[in-house]
Amino acid sequence: MSLVVRPAHTQELARAEELVLQSINDLSQRHGFGAVATSRPPDFQTFCLQDDPRGVWLAEDEGQIVGFALSWACDRLWFLAELFVAPDRQGLGIGNALLHRGMQHASQAGASEKCLITFAFNVVSQGLYVRHGLLPRLPIHLCSAEREPLIPRLKGPALRTAPIGASAADLALLRKIDIATLGISREKHHRYLLGDSRMKGVSLEDQGQRIGYAYVSAAGHIGPLALMDGQAMSAAFEAALAIAVATEARQISAFVPGTSAALAIAARLGMRFTLPMVLMSTHDFGDWTRYLPRNPGFM
Ligand SMILES: CC(C)(COP(=O)(O)OP(=O)(O)OC[C@H]1O[C@@H](n2cnc3c(N)ncnc32)[C@H](O)[C@@H]1OP(=O)(O)O)[C@@H](O)C(=O)NCCC(=O)NCCS
Repeated sequence: MSLVVRPAHTQELARAEELVLQSINDLSQRHGFGAVATSRPPDFQTFCLQDDPRGVWLAEDEGQIVGFALSWACDRLWFLAELFVAPDRQGLGIGNALLHRGMQHASQAGASEKCLITFAFNVVSQGLYVRHGLLPRLPIHLCSAEREPLIPRLKGPALRTAPIGASAADLALLRKIDIATLGISREKHHRYLLGDSRMKGVSLEDQGQRIGYAYVSAAGHIGPLALMDGQAMSAAFEAALAIAVATEARQISAFVPGTSAALAIAARLGMRFTLPMVLMSTHDFGDWTRYLPRNPGFM
């Protein structure tokens, strides 16, 4: 094996994502969850590489991609979005070598918090992260349901919603809510989401007050969703579900933290817990009673 770990180039991201897909499905099938990942264009990966190439690394052996790591940083937070090694190359130190580059990215970005979301059933990844100071802190369930049977189970939403865009006023609102929930500003990520025509971003309003925001994709997926006050989570989740069921999507889904009031609602509405994940971080980070991540890479 002549392993090289080097920065990735934009034109290599689609191939790297094929490896990610293969690695996720190998893992999820081995643990009885079936093939959970489907092929997607590397849009967010391309955005991250252009924004900050220090966080995107490939492991290559004789011209073949055998591992991939992608991390992003916002303010004091470093987030590991992807770390994957080819199934037949695992356990040989490649993950460690890639994670080392990611940790260098965290120092270069001046991050004081490190965080990621991994599969709750993967003891290897958790063992690796614990050795690097990230501890498992919060269970997160991917909750899914067929759209049609969900429609009659929903009450009318208690919160009003209004579309948001990239205006200075909307970005200021998003920034205020992110600082309240996560302690950081994610303006660049909102610009990314708001530039995606398949994504609907809304503010959540209670008695004329803008108390949060939610995104819902055309594929029926909810998140991120964030609130100034966790008390409003049930109403906010139901408002997001109302938008999701109005799409043409076959399935409705959301990643819901164990501490969120949305989890009991998801269960009551008959949504199934389809993929258990766990958030790991160096310190207690974020208020997950008022934030639903979009997915384990975007968070
Ligand atoms: C997780 C993954 C990236 C790790 O890469 P890898 O090349 O297999 O890992 P390495 O060989 O570098 O290191 C694995 C570490 O896990 C540790 N480990 C293995 N089994 C373990 C267990 N049961 N408990 C605790 N630690 C364990 C090993 O000790 C090793 O650390 P060490 O070399 O410091 O002793 C890789 O296995 C993978 O792609 N898995 C499937 C996808 C996945 O879950 N990715 C993470 C998504 S966030």
